[in-house]
Amino acid sequence: MIVSLSIASFGFTAGLDNCQKCHKSDKAPDKMIAKAKIGTAADLMKALKEGPKNGMHKSLKDDDINGAAGALGLK
Ligand code: HEC
Repeated sequence: MIVSLSIASFGFTAGLDNCQKCHKSDKAPDKMIAKAKIGTAADLMKALKEGPKNGMHKSLKDDDINGAAGALGLK
């Protein structure tokens, strides 16, 4: 399917799989980071761990977040 193809093209195995069970269509991870003005991997880490929605992201490990940051093109 489209999702796994786009992840494969980035060369990540984890990628956005961990996000997309909750983040779909108009709440896709790339749209969420644009809306929250997240521009770097550090911003993403901070938003998911300390932001207003950190309760939703408690189950994510640092590796999951870093993998997602990579798949989203954040550095
Ligand atoms: C258990 C469900 C769940 C998972 C898994 C999840 N999220 Fe979320 N996330 C949410 C919900 C719910 C919100 C709030 C949605 C809204 O504001 O409309 C949110 C909000 C966000 C926001 C906005 C944060 C802010 O401060 O405004 C970002 C960015 C985000 N998620 C990224 C991610 C990424 C990247 C992943 C994967 C590493 C992920 N999420 C995994 C449920 C989840």
